[in-house]
Amino acid sequence: MKPKKMDPTISARAPAKVILTGEHFVVLGAPALAMAVNLYSTAHASRNETGKVEVEATLPLRLVDSGESRGVKSEELLKPLRMAAEVVLDRVHGNTRGVHVQVECNIPIGAGLGSSASTSVAIIAAVAKSRGVQLGKKEIFGLAYKPETLIHNKPSGVDQATTTYGGVIQYKSPGKVESIKIDQGPCILVCDTGLHRSTGRLVGAVVKRSKTREAIYRDHVDEVARITKSARRALEGGRDEELGELMNRNQELLQKIGVSHPMLERLIKASMESGALGAKLTGAGGGGCMIALCRGDESKQRIARRLRRMGGTVYKTSLARSGVEVLRDS
Ligand code: PMV
Repeated sequence: MKPKKMDPTISARAPAKVILTGEHFVVLGAPALAMAVNLYSTAHASRNETGKVEVEATLPLRLVDSGESRGVKSEELLKPLRMAAEVVLDRVHGNTRGVHVQVECNIPIGAGLGSSASTSVAIIAAVAKSRGVQLGKKEIFGLAYKPETLIHNKPSGVDQATTTYGGVIQYKSPGKVESIKIDQGPCILVCDTGLHRSTGRLVGAVVKRSKTREAIYRDHVDEVARITKSARRALEGGRDEELGELMNRNQELLQKIGVSHPMLERLIKASMESGALGAKLTGAGGGGCMIALCRGDESKQRIARRLRRMGGTVYKTSLARSGVEVLRDS
């Protein structure tokens, strides 16, 4: 008897991201500048005969009780991952629905580094390829909206755009994603407060406040639009001091709209005292990660030592030029 031919397992990976300028304000219409970094989610997909969508995930759960993490259920964490697989199966006609998806996420969760977008995008690419379909980046980006909306309520799309396209992008809206050409990535240190929080809740609160204080928020959005455009030019021209100043001003505005946190403020202040050119929270804030623009590797190490002594967790990251990629057939 001939051995049964096994369906191949297809793997795809997608990077994490940091936002250099424009988080929150991008939800309100300002452009943001974001950079993919080399922490990854990897998804492995293979067809199964059960007709079911099976999902298993290994996630870096470093839970710190900030009053919000009580009762985290595994079904809740797996729901968006399942949805990512399902949006692809809906799109790929004429196939049986059975698929087994296994995810390894090496990106801290709820920390502002886009872990959910990265897992969704990796799953979408892997499941599609397991059905013999190589999706284009634009389509992967579009399909990721559904799982992202489940988690983040009203995502701007900047997270899934960055993890899909990689490199540095300017993002304003789904139709306005521009890849930015740079020879070298900025020297960015990423440090985690360890306080994890819900992006959806933070974004919801900002959107609500923007409706009651329209004029103030309009001015902020206009200013952030100018900050992002200038930051892009500074980055393209290699003018790090200017980029750092723009990041600092962006942080002042993020603090004004109430999404910073005392621990983030302490890490930001300490990194500036230790020689950073600019520092700010990255992602939704309220805890999570901060970033510091450093003068070079030596300065980065000095700042990292100081932040570690204060209880921060520093991640070794650099620019990830590629976005989502299918890795191999096995
Ligand atoms: O915290 P993260 O990694 O999910 O980043 C969210 C970025 C926001 O601008 C706060 C929300 C969004 O959808 O753009």
